[in-house]
Amino acid sequence: MDLGHLGRSVTQRVGVAIGAAAWALGLSACGGGSGTATVAVAVAPPEAALSTATRLSVGDLMFNDTSLSVSGQQACASCHAKPTGHADPAGTVLPLGGPTMDVQGFRSSPSLRYLLANTPFRFAPDGKAFGGFTWDGRAESLQAQAAGPLLAANEMANPAIADVAAKVRRASYYADFARLYNLTATATDQEVFDATTLALATYQIEDPDYLLFNSKFDQVLDGKATLTEQEARGLQIFNDPAQGNCASCHVSRVEADGSRPLFTDFSYAALGVPRNPAIQANADPAFFDMGLCGPKRTDLANRLDLCGQFKVPTLRNIALTAPYFHNASVATLEEAVSFYATRDINPARWYPVVNGQPDLFNDLPLALRSQVIQTRPFGLAPGAQPRLSAQDVSDLTAFLQTLSDDIAAPAASPRVTP
Ligand code: HEC
Ligand code: HEC
Repeated sequence: MDLGHLGRSVTQRVGVAIGAAAWALGLSACGGGSGTATVAVAVAPPEAALSTATRLSVGDLMFNDTSLSVSGQQACASCHAKPTGHADPAGTVLPLGGPTMDVQGFRSSPSLRYLLANTPFRFAPDGKAFGGFTWDGRAESLQAQAAGPLLAANEMANPAIADVAAKVRRASYYADFARLYNLTATATDQEVFDATTLALATYQIEDPDYLLFNSKFDQVLDGKATLTEQEARGLQIFNDPAQGNCASCHVSRVEADGSRPLFTDFSYAALGVPRNPAIQANADPAFFDMGLCGPKRTDLANRLDLCGQFKVPTLRNIALTAPYFHNASVATLEEAVSFYATRDINPARWYPVVNGQPDLFNDLPLALRSQVIQTRPFGLAPGAQPRLSAQDVSDLTAFLQTLSDDIAAPAASPRVTP
């Protein structure tokens, strides 16, 4: 029971995936830009529509079910909350977990929206890393990822899959769940566990909340709203290779087939964000979270050239998902944007000053700090004229605020409507 095939087939084009989801749901709301949806709705058999509705409600109950954790207090939704773009609800601190809810991890919980176009981790022919789930891409698929938190000591903390299976068997939705995933009375713990992770992954793919495409920015693409002057300046700076150059990683253009931009290319980069002293693991000066080369991810431990690289996150809903960066080192959106503007020209703002010198890129071992990127908007000398002024930072921030979904409104077509 592997969702790999689903992961891969939907990666081709988000549009196709939504077409398929709308097909199964019998929805016509998504049909506007996608012929697939409109045609298929007419022929979708009623049982299929019914079981999709059941899949969605079982998935939703499971995602919000605190009884699946050892503490009895934590669900997936505790760290991926709907009002905050399915990211951290806490706002400034890293969420705690574990059996008594006092164990801290060392990464910020990312938004779970717009992950549908992601692929399993891979290297492009030129050696650049792409894809995979989590900040270091170590999970192959949404299903593989769902197993992590159920068992992680700092999260839902089940000691073994048997514990998860026992909890799921006691859940109020078990009968529907068993029917949907063909689990008989003699189903093994492994079968119940695999169906659980499949149900959680399917929910994140099928629930329209994860792919709303109805932000102000989307409405502008559809000709139904206009950016303010400040937001429009922000977008221009965001796209300009000589200024923000943000779009070179956080893709902002509509694809040739009309697919809306996801504000990430799912690649990796080492930005050298500051160490976060509030992370307990960082009390050990020899501990470093280096992303692709470990320690959470283990298969690339010898690739020192990849140390410090983390996945480019989507910027959709970014105004809702504080704190920022993989290590939650920055509290507000405006500050996260300022980091790009002033990392190099005013490093003392970001790094502790040691013996009169800012300790640049202090969240990496000394020998690996030269791998931090210097391309635009970076690459200026300390004290140089800024490439992004204070006004530019506030314009960029204003633009980024147009990327928040309207959770109360229906999902829009994944393609721009002409
Ligand atoms: C204690 C907080 C916490 C809980 C509970 C939790 N997560 Fe997460 N989630 C995180 C963090 C932190 C990360 C980033 C992990 C990393 O990079 O190593 C993450 C990453 C993810 C990702 C990858 C997102 C991406 O951009 O690649 C998915 C998918 C996900 N979680 C789904 C779930 C599901 C499903 C559950 C419930 C079974 C769950 N999470 C429970 C904190 C949590
Ligand atoms: C070279 C690729 C690249 C460029 C160019 C780039 N970013 Fe990023 N961005 C990243 C990566 C990688 C991360 C995650 C880094 C980390 O956490 O260590 C990130 C993270 C962010 C975050 C925090 C996201 C979160 O979920 O915490 C914001 C906000 C952001 N970028 C905005 C911008 C803006 C604005 C610009 C242009 C001024 C820009 N980025 C240019 C690669 C890039």
